[in-house]
This record gives sequence, structure tokens and C-alpha cells, in this order.
Amino acid sequence: MVSDSVKAATRAKLSSTFDMFADVSAAFVGEDPATIDKALDYGEFQRAAEAIDPVERLRGEVEAMLDETLTADTLDGLNAIMIHDDYAFQHSVDVAIVSTMIAKQIGMPPDRLAQITLGGLLHDVGKVFVPLSVLNKPGKLTDEEFEIIKTHPARGYQMLRAASIGDDLIAHHVVYQHHERQDGDGYPRGLTGQNRIRRSRAESVDPRRIHVVGEISGIADTYEALVADRPYRIAFGLEKVREIL
Ligand SMILES: [Fe+2]
Repeated sequence: MVSDSVKAATRAKLSSTFDMFADVSAAFVGEDPATIDKALDYGEFQRAAEAIDPVERLRGEVEAMLDETLTADTLDGLNAIMIHDDYAFQHSVDVAIVSTMIAKQIGMPPDRLAQITLGGLLHDVGKVFVPLSVLNKPGKLTDEEFEIIKTHPARGYQMLRAASIGDDLIAHHVVYQHHERQDGDGYPRGLTGQNRIRRSRAESVDPRRIHVVGEISGIADTYEALVADRPYRIAFGLEKVREIL
């Protein structure tokens, strides 16, 4: 539902944006968490992150993707998402599209949809802090390595805070919460979900609950990972994907 040309342009822009984030974080990759936390608080880091200005950099791509998803009627065809060489960026583009489609289906307003698209594009940006040897390790991760991977949602959230990407925090919630799970079994905070869209005001502001956009992005991220062929397995069929979700 989103044209190849828009996807390709977005992948390229996303790749250069991640490179810029990787540059400002390069000195800290592999450092212990306390050191990284401290570094992220420094004005120098914040000025560097702010200068990247991901909202401005990705504005045109977000608008183009949104235009095309808003005019698409159904979720048909998502299983036909193609595999590209640069899996991480393709994955981010596809998570952005799927999240935006789900949000649209449940009636979210366009200004929120733009934030969800942006959050989807940037959801894994915290991985710039994870050493490539861990990120690209073939085979099973050790517990210690998995702990490093698990830092990426909070790191991404901190990056977006540093980059000052807006006040409504919708994109931040996407980045921070996309690995939280309904039963509290996710990470980093073990928040729980409600398995339904409608919720009371009290429920929707409960800090122990996953924000609705966190739930949407968790589903989109999982869905997208399952319907894609990976080097170590082929894509799951849609029936199996439904069962897993
Ligand atoms: Fe992630």
C-alpha cells in the first residue's frame, strides 16, 4: 500500500539518520549502562542529538507514507512486504506502515498517526548503542548479550528526549514500549496491557499500563518480524502468525 519509491526514499533517509545517531553515540558503545546514562544527560550530547533533528529530517517521508496509508482501505497485501538487503531499515519502514494502518483502523486522528509513523521509523534507534558484534551475532545470544539488547527501548527513548522531537510523547511511547507485552512479560519495564482498545480515562493514564500506541507498535513489530523471511528461517504463514499474536 506504500509505493516502492516512497519506501526506498524512506529507507535511505532513515539509514543516514541512524548513521548520525550512531556518530553521536559511537564513543559510548559497549560502555556500562551508568556511563551511558551519564553521557546522555550532558548538554553536549543533547546539542548533538538536537542538531540531528529527526523530525525535520524525516518530515517529508512521514508525510508521503501517511498520504499513501491514509488512502489505502484495508490491511490486504501486508503479507507481500518484500525482503530487502538492508533488513533493519526495511523492517522499520514496514513497522511504521503496519502501526499506522492499525492506528488508522481504530480511528486515531491524523496528527497522532504522523507521530506513530515517526515512532515506527525510529523504534529501534536505541540499537545504535548495541555493539554490532551483539546485534549481528549469528546463533543464540548469551544472557548477558540479551541484557544489552534489552537496553535499546530505553536508550531510544533517551535519544528522542535529547533530540527534543515534540511534546506529546507519542513517538517516545512507541520507542520505549514496543517490547512490552500484554501479560507483563515484556521489557524494559514489564508493563501490562488490557487486550482491548476501549479504556477508561483512569486506565489510559495508568503508568503501569502499556500506552495504546505501545501496544500497537508491539503488535506491528512482532507481525512484521514473523511475516518476513530471515536468514535463519522462512516467513511464517498467516494462520501461524495469527496464532502466535
Ligand atoms: Fe526493538
